Amino acid sequence: MNSANSVYECSIIELDKHHSDRKGNLSVVQSNSVVPFDIKRIYYLYDVPGGESRGGHAHKKLYQLIIAASGSFSVTLDDGKIKRTFFLNHPYQGLYIVPGIWRTLDDFSSGAVCLVLASGKYDETDYIRDYDNFIQYKKTARI
Ligand code: TYD
Repeated sequence: MNSANSVYECSIIELDKHHSDRKGNLSVVQSNSVVPFDIKRIYYLYDVPGGESRGGHAHKKLYQLIIAASGSFSVTLDDGKIKRTFFLNHPYQGLYIVPGIWRTLDDFSSGAVCLVLASGKYDETDYIRDYDNFIQYKKTARI
């Protein structure tokens, strides 16, 4: 039951990093190997003004991997009981987020690019955008 998921099911995944002294770095993410889901959609946030916050929602079915492709930002995960904050500032790390977790992104550095790999296409019905509704949704898992 996705509504029962906890923040401890979310974690930082170290991505493959191919390093060349002369030519820089390259990191790879492949479906069902580095990330345990099929990647169906990619989107990215950029030009986020300093002090602005993004996210502020949960998903019912969607799995995601969030990468700071450039710059840095914080991601706070909340399962209705416990909150964990991750600071992302390396393009070779991704934050794996399971469904049923409220997330807030803030502290964007200048020039930050937040790359999101997602397990499904955009579907507004998969979103929970109201925090009180989210808490109600989490309670369904505890009945
Ligand atoms: P929103 O989910 O509110 O952004 P965030 O939670 O990151 O602050 O999305 C902003 C707008 O972009 C909203 O009108 C929906 C639209 N959108 C799409 O059309 N497709 C997508 O894949 C995503 C993620 C958003």
